[in-house]
Amino acid sequence: MKKDFLSICDLSYDEIFEIFELSRELKARLKKGDEYQPLKGKTLAMIFQKPSTRTRVSFEVGMFQLGGHAVYLGPNDIQLGKREAVSDIARTISRYNDGIMARLFGHEDILELAEYANIPVINGLTDLLHPCQVLADAFTIWEKRGSLEELNIAFIGDGNNVCNSWLNLASKVPIHLSLGIPEGYDPDKEILSMAKKSNISEITIYRNPKMAVKNAEVIYTDVWTSMGQEKEAENRRQNFRNFQVDNKLVSYADPNCMVMHCLPARRGEEITDSVLDGPHSIVFDQAENRLHVQKAILIKLLT
Ligand code: CP
Ligand code: NVA
Repeated sequence: MKKDFLSICDLSYDEIFEIFELSRELKARLKKGDEYQPLKGKTLAMIFQKPSTRTRVSFEVGMFQLGGHAVYLGPNDIQLGKREAVSDIARTISRYNDGIMARLFGHEDILELAEYANIPVINGLTDLLHPCQVLADAFTIWEKRGSLEELNIAFIGDGNNVCNSWLNLASKVPIHLSLGIPEGYDPDKEILSMAKKSNISEITIYRNPKMAVKNAEVIYTDVWTSMGQEKEAENRRQNFRNFQVDNKLVSYADPNCMVMHCLPARRGEEITDSVLDGPHSIVFDQAENRLHVQKAILIKLLT
C-alpha cells in the first residue's frame, strides 16, 4: 500500500529516527560528491497554491540529485478545486507521476488529494500543518545536539501550522515544549489535546514569552502573519508585539540556546536582525536540512 506523509503523526518514533539516519547519510554523501540516484526515472508533481522558496527549491533540487525529476505546478496551472475537482486531479496526476508534493490552503484538500491519488502524497504546508519543516528542524537539533529527548524547546509566536507540527512531534518524541503564545492565537485544539493525551512530552502554554523561554535550549519562532492571513496583518502586529524574539528575550534562555525560524522571516517583527544574524541563530542550517530530510522522505515513500 502507498504511504503518504501528511503529518508527523503518519510516522512512528522508529521511522522518525530512520529518516534522521538516512538524512545524515545523504548529507554526507552529497558533501563528498557521491552520486546516488535511487529515484532514477521517477517524477514528482509539485502543486503550489501559495508562494515558496525553500520548499520548492529543496524538493526540485532533491529530486534532481536523486536521479528523478520534479514538475512545478504553480497557482495558475492546476487551480485545484476551481478548474477541476481535487479528486479528478489526484487520479489524473497519479497516471503520470510517482509522487505528489502539495502546498495548499485547506488541509481538507490535501486529505482528499491523498485519498484519490494512488501514489504517495507529501504535505509541503497547509493552513494546518507543516510537517516537512518540523521534521527537518528536529533533525537539525538532533544533528547538533546528538539527541532530541527531553530537550527544552520554546515556541514563541503564532500557534499556527508550524506550531501544530511541533505538537505532533511532541506526541511522538519526548520533549519539553513551552509555547509562548498570546491569547486568541493558540494552536489547533484537537492537535493540542492529542499531544497532551499522548503523555509523551511535557507541554505548557504561557502568555508571557519570558516564562516560556526560561531554560530553553531552543527558541523557535515563525511569522505573525502567515500566507493567506495578510488582511489581519495590522491587527496581528498589535497583538503579537510583546512576543518578538530579541536579544533581551534570548537572554532569559539557556546561554547556549539555539534560535530557529522556519523562514521567510519578517525582520523587525517576530525576530530582530541582531538575533537572526547573531551567534545563537541556526536558521540557514535548518533551511539547508530541508533538502537532506526531504530526500530521505522521498526515498522512503517513492522506492
Ligand atoms: N519554510 C518554508 O517552507 O519556506 P518557503 O515558504 O519559502 O517554502
Ligand atoms: N506559518 C507560515 C510558515 C511559512 C513557511 C505560513 O504559513 O505562512
